[in-house]
Amino acid sequence: MAVLSTPNKIILFTAVVLVLLTLGFYMRRDIFMTVPFPVLQKNLNATRILVCGGAGYIGSHLVRELSTQPDYEIIIVDNLSKGHKKSIPKGIKFEKADIRDKLALDRIFSKYKPDAVMHFCASISVGESVADPLGYYENNVAGTIYLLQTMKRHNVKYFIFSSSAAIFGNAKEVPIPDDAQPNPINPYGYTKFVVENILASSENAYGLKYICLRYFNACGAHESGDIGEDHHPETHLIPLVLQVALGQRDSISIFGDDYETKDGTCVRDYIHVTDLATAHIRALEYLVKENKSQSFNLGSGEGYSVKEVINAARNVTGHPIPDIVEARRIGDPAVLIAKSTRAEKILGWKRKYNTIESIVASAWKYHKTHINGYND
Ligand SMILES: NC(=O)c1ccc[n+]([C@@H]2O[C@H](COP(=O)([O-])OP(=O)(O)OC[C@H]3O[C@@H](n4cnc5c(N)ncnc54)[C@H](O)[C@@H]3O)[C@@H](O)[C@H]2O)c1
Ligand SMILES: *[C@@H]1O[C@H](CO)[C@@H](O)[C@H](O)[C@H]1NC(C)=O
Ligand SMILES: *[C@@H]1O[C@H](CO)[C@@H](O)[C@H](O)[C@H]1NC(C)=O
Ligand SMILES: *[C@@H]1O[C@H](CO)[C@@H](O)[C@H](O)[C@H]1NC(C)=O
Ligand SMILES: *[C@@H]1O[C@H](CO)[C@@H](O)[C@H](O)[C@H]1NC(C)=O
Repeated sequence: MAVLSTPNKIILFTAVVLVLLTLGFYMRRDIFMTVPFPVLQKNLNATRILVCGGAGYIGSHLVRELSTQPDYEIIIVDNLSKGHKKSIPKGIKFEKADIRDKLALDRIFSKYKPDAVMHFCASISVGESVADPLGYYENNVAGTIYLLQTMKRHNVKYFIFSSSAAIFGNAKEVPIPDDAQPNPINPYGYTKFVVENILASSENAYGLKYICLRYFNACGAHESGDIGEDHHPETHLIPLVLQVALGQRDSISIFGDDYETKDGTCVRDYIHVTDLATAHIRALEYLVKENKSQSFNLGSGEGYSVKEVINAARNVTGHPIPDIVEARRIGDPAVLIAKSTRAEKILGWKRKYNTIESIVASAWKYHKTHINGYND
């Protein structure tokens, strides 16, 4: 073996020291990186979920359920046009931004590096969508496109979408099965249907993995009674009925009592928001595990008539709740009920709230302690 000359020994020694130093720095690079990567420090394993519209009614209940699970980190994006800052639990990250603001989305995605997006943002009133279709397509369709483009740029693959029973219009088969052909009858329903198609095309083209959850009538409130439904204007039956019980309106209107139903009033499928929230968590687990896009109806399979809902509220509140029968509204189908076979079979989804009384009781717990909603 050749003996090294002194200059060569120095070079070898320096090289070894440099290699060791580099290795040492590399192994303890966390010490030097606390400044550039603050977001990743907390829990390296947590799945980071961007919840768009997470300050709204259904989104806030999803946030509440998800925050009780150990392995998720939540970031809410909401422009607070309809959402409520007071619904956001302490310690949850919140960015006030509009999903139509591409620059803001880019900044938020760079900052938090989400693994998945749940998308609750939308303008949600059927009547308003008839009066202002362009506004509805802009927020619900263009807004979703901007969100998907940002996901694509940042290589985020998983998307859970708040779709709606409204995509089905006047369904031929009732209860409506998961694979019924969509046939919307108003601009709101069309915006949801268009987004479902955009998602299918984006899976083909870019490998996006998505789940569409078609909610029927979302209702009820978190069991704690500290978050619930606060829409302005309110158009949903249960909060309106409970406003009568609170003395905030004199009576509740029943639009038509001559439908071909058990008592002549319209029958709808009421599904509790906490049950919707757990469906989102099951859907996300499924998406990540199976890597497969899918659509699910989320309903109870049972229908309650308007009169039954009012009776349940009378039972729960002990208030007589006077009702007034008025003419039918245009476009109200007699019966709208879903079969949620797919969610039950594939996601193992089970509802916790199985009676209209338990649903109304949970809503009542919120409303009687929040007489003016969040008051913001
Ligand atoms: N409530 C129901 O019964 C029902 C039924 C079927 C489907 N849905 C769908 O579920 C989703 C949530 O409904 P909800 O009842 O919780 O409504 P919501 O109005 O309470 O919540 C929507 C949230 O999105 C936010 N938002 C809207 N546009 C935004 C924008 N451009 N940028 C940022 N934030 C924006 C609002 O501030 C609000 O907090 C919607 O997509 C709706 O279409 C609701
Ligand atoms: C991270 O995941 C690994 C392997 O799945 C697990 O052993 C470890 O406990 C997890 N750490 C945290 C902080 O959850
Ligand atoms: C938020 O989005 C809604 C829905 O389109 C829009 O009407 C409103 O102007 C926006 N508000 C803010 C504060 O950005
Ligand atoms: C998920 O499916 C896509 C094809 O649609 C594939 O490119 C990708 O590698 C799959 N990912 C995993 C984790 O299996
Ligand atoms: C209201 O209470 C009565 C008496 O307990 C019961 O028979 C009825 O089923 C209840 N109605 C609803 C809609 O829950």
